[in-house]
Amino acid sequence: MPCFDRAVEAIHQQGYFIGEQFWPASEALAMTQACQELRQQDRFRPACIGRAQEKQRQETIRSDLICWLENDLAAPLQHYLDALEAYRQQINRELMLGLDHVEVHAAYYPPGAHYGKHLDRHRDDDARTLTAILYLNPDWQAEDGGLLSIDLPDGSQARVLPRLGTFVSFLSAEFPHAVLPTRRDRLTLTGWYRRRSAAF
Ligand code: OGA
Ligand code: MN
Repeated sequence: MPCFDRAVEAIHQQGYFIGEQFWPASEALAMTQACQELRQQDRFRPACIGRAQEKQRQETIRSDLICWLENDLAAPLQHYLDALEAYRQQINRELMLGLDHVEVHAAYYPPGAHYGKHLDRHRDDDARTLTAILYLNPDWQAEDGGLLSIDLPDGSQARVLPRLGTFVSFLSAEFPHAVLPTRRDRLTLTGWYRRRSAAF
């Protein structure tokens, strides 16, 4: 499990964090293998956009396949959830964001897949507060595409290659971002920390 100090500090200072080679490579590689096993077990489904009745598949916006991480996880994926719990507790302790729990899915982008520009916080539900993404692709090259492009407040963009061990986190309501078309199979673990909705 990595030390989250740099991530927490960056979230505090600028609202986002990009850490290359942040996750121990052996742990990340074990997660890659566990996700490949989920694919072999046919556990990925086309992703949808929005919530409840609004849910629909719109391949022009989003063309990845996802598998929610819930029960009976392989050890490396359970370990990832344990690490995200440690991150949650540290964020709450130091930044008092009041994060309640995290929801995480593995995502698989086949060649040609992309995800158009969006915010992670839903329009009709403000519970999603902090995004955390771990990339699981060894030997990724610039020509493989599949960059994460994050719009920054100064009008520039941060571009992130989805390389094994790169960890990205940002405030879910504040950073529009997109996944540019990939030319290779692209695997990620994407999570959103939620706070309790105001309704409760
Ligand atoms: C998402 C998302 C980014 C990525 O799933 O909401 O923005 O780099 N993913 O996979
Ligand atoms: Mn997103």
